[in-house]
Formats: sequence, structure tokens, C-alpha cells
Amino acid sequence: MAKEKAVKELEDLPGIGPTTAEKLRGAGIDSLDKVATQFPSNLSEITGINEETAKKAVAAAREATTLNVESAKQLKEKRDDIGRISTGSKDLDELIGGGIETDAITEVYGRFASGKTQLGFQLAVNAQLPRKDGGLAGNVLFIDTEGTFRPERIVTMAKKAGLDTDQALENISVVRALSSEQQMLAAERADNLIKEKNIRLIIVDSLTSLFRVEFLGRGALNERQQKLNSHIHRLAVLANRYNLAVYVTNQVMDNPGMMFGDPTTPIGGNILAHAATTMLYLRKSKEEKRIVRLVDSPLKQEGECVIKITPDGIKD
Ligand code: GTP
Ligand code: MG
Repeated sequence: MAKEKAVKELEDLPGIGPTTAEKLRGAGIDSLDKVATQFPSNLSEITGINEETAKKAVAAAREATTLNVESAKQLKEKRDDIGRISTGSKDLDELIGGGIETDAITEVYGRFASGKTQLGFQLAVNAQLPRKDGGLAGNVLFIDTEGTFRPERIVTMAKKAGLDTDQALENISVVRALSSEQQMLAAERADNLIKEKNIRLIIVDSLTSLFRVEFLGRGALNERQQKLNSHIHRLAVLANRYNLAVYVTNQVMDNPGMMFGDPTTPIGGNILAHAATTMLYLRKSKEEKRIVRLVDSPLKQEGECVIKITPDGIKD
């Protein structure tokens, strides 16, 4: 008899495919626990699956959910296992507690040419360094949605970091996503790649641009947020399941309603603010200087530092 697949996420439930799972998440039912406490009729109403299927899904979710009890000591050990990737700038590393961390999503937002992509390149190189040099001796999955991945730039930065440049390129798997579907699929199908290639960093550059062009107008806003929500949820699952770092970039849009302060807000607004563990706001200063503001972090106080985008890469 075929052994049934362990039920770990919504998609593993009988009768629940990616589309139905997305509808559930859109309705706030984003975990097995939440499915387990639903009336089948409600589930059926939300997703359009028939009640018989809904009943089976709820039953399977009940079976699969166990209360996750861990001692505080276990949690502490898990936290101690968190790895960090240096950004190339000591000041920035310090600001965010030692580099961007695993089992977390770090979001960087800013206007065009603020350095979001350059910082991504530097992290893609630094992730490959040994731990003692600020890396995780791991490989990288780079989801490029804007066609701005530049291997030459990786070569320059890798050389400066003392890595074999061919190997450094080999260690970065690049997915060029041309639509939000392809972008989402890249994350949905990443499990095998992550295991085979020891991926310790996933970069999504940019997280939001394809969604922004594909879902235009007020009517599409809801769908856009639902899909983005589901995509980010998937990234968070990967970060946690494989203890890897996720770095996403986001453009800012002008907020004409705001009269004081910096009139820009990240695309995607609140959904991202809740999902990202660390949010950094990058803005241009003189020449190669950039100001980085730590906007939100569970461990660190808000603060700012200055980095430089030099020919060799990100520096203090
Ligand atoms: P968008 O994707 O357009 O929103 O911008 P971004 O925030 O990703 O900006 P990006 O990281 O591409 O930064 C662009 C800036 O980095 C340029 O204006 C340059 O100042 C700098 N830069 C880019 N490439 C190089 C390079 O090869 N050498 C040096 N020294 N600086 C570079
Ligand atoms: Mg960019």
C-alpha cells in the first residue's frame, strides 16, 4: 500500500490544490489548525469545493495538527542555531544584529537606484563565505523578476571576497521570472533545489514589481494582496523549514497624501510589514553613499547607518 504523504501544509490536504489553498489563505485560513476548526460548509462556501471534499479536508487537518509544545530551552537552542550573512558593511551588520538572519525574511525597500539589487548581489556572494568570514558556506537561489541579475557584478564581488569566481557563479541558481505565476512557482517548487544544492539564501528581486503591473486598478487590489500574501507565506515556510535567509526587495511608491516626513511607502503595505522580520529602508545620499534605516525589528531598536556602493561592492 502506498504510504500517504505527511500533511504539513494546506496543499497536502486531500482535495486541496494550490488554487483552493490560495483562496483559503486569502480568507485568513492559512494554517492546518485553522482548517481543523472550520465547519465544512464554511470551507465549501469560501473555496467552491463540495461539502464532501471539505469534510475530508477538515478531518485530515484535524488528524495532522498536534499542538506544538517546545520547552523554552528548545526554543533557545533553535535561536542559537540562527545563522547570519554579512552585508559587507560592518555598520549595517551591527545595526541589524550581525547580518541578515536565517529563518526570517528581510525586506529592503527604496526608490530606484537606491541599491536594493546591489545589496542582493553582495549577499549572494557573502552567503558562500565560511561562517568565520560572515557567510553560511551555502548556495543561493536568486529569483530575478526584473532582468537585472548581472553575473559580471557577481564576478567582481566574488574576486574581492577571495572566492573562486567560476564556483561563485555556479553556486547561484538564477530563475528569471516573467510573470507573477512563474515567480510564485519558483518558490513553490524550490524544495528539491534547496536540499540538493544546500541553498541558504533566497533572494526575490523584486518581490512586488510583477504583481504591480499585472494587477492594476482598485478592483484587482484584493487579488494582488491575496497572491502576494500566499507567496510571502510560502517564502516564510521555506525560511523556517530549511533555516535559510530570505532577502526581498520592494519599490516605494509616492504617497501624495503625506505632507510631512518622507512621502514614500512600500508597495504591498501592511501584509509585508507583518511578514518581514526585518525591514530596511534605503535611500540615496551623496555619490556612492546610501542611508539605511532599520524600520522594524523584533530585537533591535530603530536606527540608521551609512553604507557605500563601491566598485568592489558594499562597504562601510
Ligand atoms: P531599482 O531596481 O531600479 O528599483 O533600483 P535598485 O534599488 O535595485 O538599485 P541598484 O541596486 O541597481 O543600484 C543602482 C546603483 O548602484 C547605481 O546608481 C550605482 O550607483 C550603483 N552601481 C550599480 N552597479 C554598479 C557597479 O558595477 N559599480 C559601482 N561602483 N556601482 C554600481
Ligand atoms: Mg533593482
